[in-house]
Amino acid sequence: MVKKKDMILATKIFVAVLLHFIVSTADSTSSINTQSNHKRTLRNHPRGSTLYPPVQLQVYDDHVVVDNGIFSMTIASPTGTVTGINFNGIENILNDRNGISDRGYWDVNWSDPSDPKDNLDKLAGKQLDVIVNDENQVELSFKRLWTFSQENNHVSLNIDKRFVVLRGSSGFYSYGIFERLKGWPDANVYQGRIVFKLQDKLFRYMAVSDERQRIMPTFEDREKGQPLDYPEAVLLTRPSNSFLQGELDDKYQYSTENKDNRVHGWICSDPPVGFWMITPSNEFRTAGPVKQDLTSHAGPVTLSMFFSTHYAGIDLGIKFRDGEPWKKVFGPVFIYLNSVTTEDDPLSLWVDAKEEMLLQTESWPYNFPNSSDYPRAHQRGQVTGRLLVHDIVLAYARNAFVGLAPPGTLGSWQVENKGYQFWTQTDNKGYFQIKNVRPGCYHLYAWVPGYIGDYMYRSIIYVLQGSKIRMGVLVHKPPRNGPTIWEIGVPDRTAAEFYVPEPNPTLMNQLYASQRTESFRQYGLWDRYTDLYPDQDLVYTVGVSDYETNWFFTHANRNVGNKTYIPTTWTVLFDLEYVIPGNYTIQLALASATAAEVQIKINNEGVSPVFTTGLIGRDNAIARHGIHGLYWLYSVDVLNSQLQAGTNAMYLTQTRGSSPFRGVMYDYIRLEKPPL
Ligand SMILES: *[C@@H]1O[C@H](CO)[C@@H](O)[C@H](O)[C@H]1NC(C)=O
Ligand SMILES: *[C@@H]1O[C@H](CO)[C@@H](O)[C@H](O)[C@H]1NC(C)=O
Ligand SMILES: *[C@@H]1O[C@H](CO)[C@@H](O)[C@H](O)[C@H]1NC(C)=O
Ligand SMILES: *[C@@H]1O[C@H](CO)[C@@H](O)[C@H](O)[C@H]1NC(C)=O
Repeated sequence: MVKKKDMILATKIFVAVLLHFIVSTADSTSSINTQSNHKRTLRNHPRGSTLYPPVQLQVYDDHVVVDNGIFSMTIASPTGTVTGINFNGIENILNDRNGISDRGYWDVNWSDPSDPKDNLDKLAGKQLDVIVNDENQVELSFKRLWTFSQENNHVSLNIDKRFVVLRGSSGFYSYGIFERLKGWPDANVYQGRIVFKLQDKLFRYMAVSDERQRIMPTFEDREKGQPLDYPEAVLLTRPSNSFLQGELDDKYQYSTENKDNRVHGWICSDPPVGFWMITPSNEFRTAGPVKQDLTSHAGPVTLSMFFSTHYAGIDLGIKFRDGEPWKKVFGPVFIYLNSVTTEDDPLSLWVDAKEEMLLQTESWPYNFPNSSDYPRAHQRGQVTGRLLVHDIVLAYARNAFVGLAPPGTLGSWQVENKGYQFWTQTDNKGYFQIKNVRPGCYHLYAWVPGYIGDYMYRSIIYVLQGSKIRMGVLVHKPPRNGPTIWEIGVPDRTAAEFYVPEPNPTLMNQLYASQRTESFRQYGLWDRYTDLYPDQDLVYTVGVSDYETNWFFTHANRNVGNKTYIPTTWTVLFDLEYVIPGNYTIQLALASATAAEVQIKINNEGVSPVFTTGLIGRDNAIARHGIHGLYWLYSVDVLNSQLQAGTNAMYLTQTRGSSPFRGVMYDYIRLEKPPL
């Protein structure tokens, strides 16, 4: 109770400070566009409403301007980078001190497999096509076609970048069609995104969720600060706003799971204007609903990440081999602009942006993109069914994640990156409905919070235009060999239920000091293990210890000074009244692994391990302040001869030292009796 009160109080103080900032930086002399309340009325009028002026396109030699009376945007042509956004009295929302290719752009990060060099390709278009130009819609295409003869600094993809402005709409859409034809050379593509860099003098307040919003440092504040163990983490030693003095900034502290990464952006307090990235669907993102990625960060920068290796590792790089053809549509995403009057609370812009996100989400799939590669609602299908889970007893699979992803193997969706995925969650009775599925062939995958393991329906599902596929009742049988003797944690693919320490007070992001739920997003928690366990490693006694306080959230290496990190061994002590015939089983579920190896020994540290994971994982969740990366599950046989009546010890060693960022996060561990 007390804790919660403190938290509410801390949040209130924080909000009060923010409001003070916003009010005190407001300049009463600025001119506010009289149209500033248009968004309230435009809700009630469908696109094309004659209440709004027609959309107008002006084409010049090296740029185009699209204006719908609410805002106007300038796009360099034929490169297709956004150079200006004029809205609500702000001449350019984008940072016009940056070059014209560094304000609003698409890019990919790729390599040739025979050459390890990373290349950043800003996908500069070579040809402008006006796809639609009428009073209700302007849609532009900036294309670049790949040819064998061209310089090899271009990724071997045909690129079609689209921008769409609708009548009466306070923002614009962008989507991209990427294609490779048969026979093209091998390529690895690691990351694809759309980026906007805003005026740093204007946009100082960032919002990623209701809880995660704050005044942000500027790019210069970071430049003047002190980089820590990696360049993304900077201690703000000389920030322009003294409120930020001594705080830590790292863009990875604002990461979000795909399923929650639907709206984020920035607020300018004078004039009160918001700039928001709305991603209305995850169908084009890779690796399923809990893949994490960046959102917005100091700069000010706003991203929509379409695919990346973040929190997953190199497995998520898209590998093209043997001339395989490929095509995929990324987006559309909606860049939403909103405003209120100076009398209104600028923070209401966030509330309005969330509402807009819901409206955009509800109108997915959109009915306006002028591309046959983007199927409309009537061209899609749906899959429904009910999922039960049969562990010891049969139960409804509640809040289970159920998804369609390209055909693969059990759990393969979490590293799948070439196709489309469609996920939903079951209701309290296990029912699910997956709507708006693109025609194609899929496997149906699922996992159920509270149970280990993955589910996959045995045969391939063919979704056609207009399909309504009923799957009936599906039953997930999680791995289990015998009754539970003991368990540690909750099988939910995160380490969130374990002990997350207080951060080092000199390396804090104050945002996370006021909220216990995401306190894992602080910098440097890896070194708190050594602070908490200075001489002896963690020992957990089943029946006595409590995993919420006695199980550190990550199996960390020990800092022995001089940047030296050595492996640690955790001990689980447990009593057995007697040992019965047959094999016992350890179910070992990991929520993350980074260049790590977990070895298990039973009752004798001097013998060779009964099990090793081998070297696994590249998700980097420890360094990136995640509470999970990718999921790993092992069922380990324990011979009954290795156990004894009385006290037993299980030793868990993460054998790979040398760095604070190598290690694992446990999701859940269970010891089972032999099968009955
Ligand atoms: C490209 O992505 C890789 C993997 O995420 C990263 O290590 C590298 O720094 C990136 N390179 C560029 C040029 O952005
Ligand atoms: C694109 O727009 C043209 C002209 O309005 C229309 O004839 C065509 O059907 C549209 N195509 C798609 C795929 O929307
Ligand atoms: C720290 O490590 C470096 C490199 O391994 C070594 O040269 C140096 O002597 C070490 N310093 C101390 C105080 O141990
Ligand atoms: C017990 O586990 C060992 C080691 O994995 C295995 O070889 C053996 O077949 C198992 N015995 C039974 C009865 O499952």
